[in-house]
Amino acid sequence: MKTVRVSASRDYDVVIDCGILERSGEYIKEFCKNSFAAIITDDKVDSLYSATLERSLETEGIRTVKYVFPNGERSKNAENYIKILEFLASNHITRSDLVIALGGGVVGDITGFAAGSYLRGVDFVQIPTTLLAMVDSSVGGKTAIDLEAGKNLAGMFYQPRLVLCDTDLLDSLDEKVFSDGCAEVIKYAALGSKEMFMHISDTKTGFDREKVIAECVQMKARIVAEDEFDNSTRQLLNFGHTVGHAAELCSGYEVTHGSAVAIGMATVSAACARAGICDKATADSLKKICRAFSLPTELCFPMEEICSAILSDKKIKGSKITAVLCKGVGECFLKSFTLDEFRSFIAL
Ligand code: GLY
Repeated sequence: MKTVRVSASRDYDVVIDCGILERSGEYIKEFCKNSFAAIITDDKVDSLYSATLERSLETEGIRTVKYVFPNGERSKNAENYIKILEFLASNHITRSDLVIALGGGVVGDITGFAAGSYLRGVDFVQIPTTLLAMVDSSVGGKTAIDLEAGKNLAGMFYQPRLVLCDTDLLDSLDEKVFSDGCAEVIKYAALGSKEMFMHISDTKTGFDREKVIAECVQMKARIVAEDEFDNSTRQLLNFGHTVGHAAELCSGYEVTHGSAVAIGMATVSAACARAGICDKATADSLKKICRAFSLPTELCFPMEEICSAILSDKKIKGSKITAVLCKGVGECFLKSFTLDEFRSFIAL
């Protein structure tokens, strides 16, 4: 078992262990003074894990209600967000109760936003069920829904009370969903750990899950402690995301988040190599590791479409965009571009 403490506007633990879902009630009861919790999940996760969670909560005397929505990014929308709020209200969830997000990034993001805005904020716990959510989206308090115009355009910073990562849950992920999470692991390795890069290159999908998840979360915790509200260093966590979010939007979310991040990291590091910012071997090693995890690396949309999608990215400030560039594995930095400059930078 590993525990990482996150220090932000609210401090909390991220506990990483196998089999923790079965014991989740023991951890959660401390944050559920009224012994009443609303579980928010999706239909895929519901059939696999809700019963275990409900049983564990019941053992601790916690009553539950549950809201289930269809799995997938298309559920992360305003209509579903309002439905969750109405569900909380109609079940008389109060500020002394608890909201639990059981699921991947979509569940965590929309539930966090609902918890943060319902009654101007009720406590919530994240139980991520995908690798992507364990290493990245469940930690750090970014919550959001997508708007027609783009991804994550409405949301807030709202930290959970606790994050419980059960590494056993990764066994039920299909290969594609697991690979998607590996893109975020590769991102963390590229940002700050040559050692992790070597470990995952050597072991591929057989990497030490508990160790790698804890290292990613530690890295994120350090960055969030320094810049919770994403004004400076936290933007490093967007490596591959500017191009990635644009690819997701252009595809109508057919391209999944992890695949999009892999495309983004490969595109930007290739551009860095062309511009002499990193050597070609660095760009090639990033592409190679993405491919080793069955992730795509080619930008499959015309540059004009990508650039117009980037325009609706929330990371645009005025006419400037801050991109994450790569000098070498473990060495990334931020650089501000106009959209035209960025277009020329990434264009082949
Ligand atoms: N997923 C990037 C961040 O939390 O800042």
